[in-house]
Amino acid sequence: MTTPTAISDGLLDEAALAALANQLFAALPGNAPGFGAVHGLSASPPAAPSPRASAPATPASAEAAARSDAPAAPTAGATAPPSPVTSATPAPPSEVPAPGRAAASSASAALAVPGPYAAALPRVSSPIERTPAVPVTTPGHPYYFLAESSALASQPAALAPAAPMEARPFGMPGEAPLREPLASLAPPSLSAAGEPAASPRSSHFYFLDATRERAPGAARGFAPDAHPAFDVQAVRRDFPILSERVHGQPLIWFDNAATTQKPQAVIDRLAYFYTHENSNIHRAAHELAARATDAYESARSKVARFLGASSSDEIIFVRGATEGINLVAQSWGRANIGAGDEIVVSQLEHHANIVPWLQLVKEKGAKLRVIPVDDSGQILMQEYRGLLNDRTRLVAVSQVSNALGTITPVAEIAELAHRAGARVLIDGAQAVSHLRVNVQALAADFYVFSGHKVFAPTGIGVVFGNADVLESMPPWQGGGNMIEDVTFERAIYQRPPARFEAGTGNIADAVGLGAAIDYIERIGLESIGSYEHDLLVYATEGLRTVPGLHLIGTAADKASVQSFVLDGYRPEEVGSALNREGIAVRAGHHCAQPIVRRFGQEATVRPSLAFYNTCAEVDVMIRALHRLASQNGRRRS
Ligand SMILES: Cc1ncc(COP(=O)(O)O)c(C=O)c1O
Repeated sequence: MTTPTAISDGLLDEAALAALANQLFAALPGNAPGFGAVHGLSASPPAAPSPRASAPATPASAEAAARSDAPAAPTAGATAPPSPVTSATPAPPSEVPAPGRAAASSASAALAVPGPYAAALPRVSSPIERTPAVPVTTPGHPYYFLAESSALASQPAALAPAAPMEARPFGMPGEAPLREPLASLAPPSLSAAGEPAASPRSSHFYFLDATRERAPGAARGFAPDAHPAFDVQAVRRDFPILSERVHGQPLIWFDNAATTQKPQAVIDRLAYFYTHENSNIHRAAHELAARATDAYESARSKVARFLGASSSDEIIFVRGATEGINLVAQSWGRANIGAGDEIVVSQLEHHANIVPWLQLVKEKGAKLRVIPVDDSGQILMQEYRGLLNDRTRLVAVSQVSNALGTITPVAEIAELAHRAGARVLIDGAQAVSHLRVNVQALAADFYVFSGHKVFAPTGIGVVFGNADVLESMPPWQGGGNMIEDVTFERAIYQRPPARFEAGTGNIADAVGLGAAIDYIERIGLESIGSYEHDLLVYATEGLRTVPGLHLIGTAADKASVQSFVLDGYRPEEVGSALNREGIAVRAGHHCAQPIVRRFGQEATVRPSLAFYNTCAEVDVMIRALHRLASQNGRRRS
């Protein structure tokens, strides 16, 4: 152990303190050499982390919290929620020290904001490394939460206009042929005078379309944060669970359509909430209520920005996409669907976007109509047009199919629905982690998603509802938090969104969702979409080399999901075999029986990718499948 340097007043200097702390943690039993550096204690100014150091809540804010049952969003006294900056996670612009500030810091060089990501993917041509991933030190600000602005300060800032999408090399094998068509893609042809474009998606490079969809948000100053070049290895270090081993092998998480893994930033944010902010919200004249309310309402604002909503009042927190669709069915649906009315869904839907409508049409004597898909798994638009009529009240479709990965033309679907006088619900559960969404550009009346599929905790999800539509809807559950006034004769309800959030919600996990959104916006959904597209192409090519493997769902527009069956094996057998090699895939009907049956199956194997997956991981899976295929060949002979 080196001896720290004392400075003149007898105290240790910052770097020495950091060095001591790191040595201490590194020496703790169970820590691998090099592991255990204190979060951000590399060599940076030791600001005191005590919440007591926070300025007290302004009386006004605490009073506001006490006065009303309404979500008055009191402002906590200098509450400083964390947004940890790890070695792999560049800070958003608001957190990157301005040049002057950085220069003023004695430790700025060692601090924190890492250099841009290396623009390269794993060496996919080299032998696959199945060595354990070593936990990586994550330098950052000491007491990272002190480096953050308050929750409310994270309101949309005026940000630079979005950079145009470009074909960026990730070093994928076989990527060269992708560059040419990408470069030659025409700019968007938006529909004129209410006419839906004949072909709204000009390519299967969906992330380019996503870039277009962001334009309206950008015009309101909601452009995403600038972000550095994408480096998958750096991203992976943000997800501690990716260092797990399963059956002695490094975990390969290809079950992202079921749920995604959580970055350290989200894990830390939850811990911070319970350590410094935990309280019920919207009530009580005390500091923690103010902090928790700030954090919760700040998360709502982040979701609004993330979806391109025009106001955070259009964002309702629910448990997940399933609860969100049930909310719409029971509130809007019960009030607006009558006997003989029609609800249109697609054949691709998850059960969550079928069953609530089945229940509603049964109750009301209405009818459920289904848009079929072609043999690639894409919606048949001509058939859809034929289903619309003056009885159509609602069109409810997924933006991305969880079973096949098909990206559906939701903007065109919504436009046609509106022309028929119907409302539109978009199930974005599989979309939000892969492509940028703008609910205004999509003209969605409702948009739902689940936090856990976008790197946030389970048990939290979102319903976006167009303000006018929400205003007209009755509550679907009754209780505290959603009322203005109650007597034994009547209840007067809050306005949206509080009207739809009866009782104590999932406060901490909503805050975690806000942190997840911060995280992916730092990386940039355009980078994510672009990387995942190349990875999907790579994986698809690999799967095609496996004898006896049949891909289910081959639409030109796809996001991160593959489905297949393998001759001679039940899907569960393939899933189990892959599991023995540390590879997690889903095998089953994926809660989407109608679409799986459309392809003559009861179940498929479904590897689903995220931006932390690599070509090397894909290679491991393809090899395992080749082994299975060859064993099956031997069994048959
Ligand atoms: C397309 C789609 N919709 C809805 C859901 C339901 O999501 P949750 O179970 O999180 O409510 C899922 C979950 O897989 C899904 O993939």
